[in-house]
Amino acid sequence: MESSAAIELRDVHVTRGAAGAVLRGLTLTIGRGETVALVGRSGAGKSTILKLINGLLTADRGSVIVDGRDTRQWDPYELRRRIGYVLQDVGLFPHLSVASNVGVVPRLLAWEPSRIAARVEDVLRLVGLPSETYAWRWPDELSGGQRQRVGVARALAADPPILLMDEPFGALDPVTRAELHREFRRIQAAVRKSVVIVTHDMGEAFALASRVGVLDGGVIAQIAAPAELARSTDPRVRPLLEPLLEAGALVGPRA
Ligand SMILES: Nc1ncnc2c1ncn2[C@@H]1O[C@H](COP(=O)(O)OP(=O)(O)O)[C@@H](O)[C@H]1O
Ligand SMILES: [Mg+2]
Repeated sequence: MESSAAIELRDVHVTRGAAGAVLRGLTLTIGRGETVALVGRSGAGKSTILKLINGLLTADRGSVIVDGRDTRQWDPYELRRRIGYVLQDVGLFPHLSVASNVGVVPRLLAWEPSRIAARVEDVLRLVGLPSETYAWRWPDELSGGQRQRVGVARALAADPPILLMDEPFGALDPVTRAELHREFRRIQAAVRKSVVIVTHDMGEAFALASRVGVLDGGVIAQIAAPAELARSTDPRVRPLLEPLLEAGALVGPRA
């Protein structure tokens, strides 16, 4: 049967060098337009999962299916055209203006310059950085939060159906982070991408995703809506909820 899922990992096993087995039969389905967050400790295999989805790594066993096709059958270039990637440290090119940074992928795809200019203006507006003010700035003339917005704009520039976000807002102060969480929800409501966010921060996962999975021991220990996960008694899940409980953040969990 044709799969309607955007992304499926089926019984995926991955071994990485000295780390040994990182994923041990992980199964996960992300629907089209859905936002799923995966939470796990450092070294749990979060970045490994994103690299499997965009074809930078292949599974030792099991399969990773994007848009109905195994990543081993995708042309790597075609696969990555379908995927926007947002990294924790953004990785903007320091010698390129904001506009040039955002236009990197459309330029690689050899879009017409006028189409690139129009698209750059649109995505900058979408992330709250109007072109008139920000297009010609250098990355070092922006705050951390503004750089992160540019990273999101860049990932969205070629309008890929899938967005992968690796600890996207982890390096920001809590106030700026909360602001970007709200912005992300607004943007995602408008663009409806299939989104996978990986983070060590349960608060971030709850703020951004409609389903949250806990990664432990190379498998998904539990995946559920935030309100349901917050009530979990699973010993692999509870410790990751502790920081939220301490902050009192689970009083009245989001519906
Ligand atoms: N390039 C690599 N070569 C060998 N082992 C790696 C490599 N990258 C990551 N690992 C190991 O794989 C495990 C999972 O890494 P990663 O997916 O980056 O974890 P996370 O993103 O959850 O912190 C870790 O033990 C890490 O040390
Ligand atoms: Mg990582």
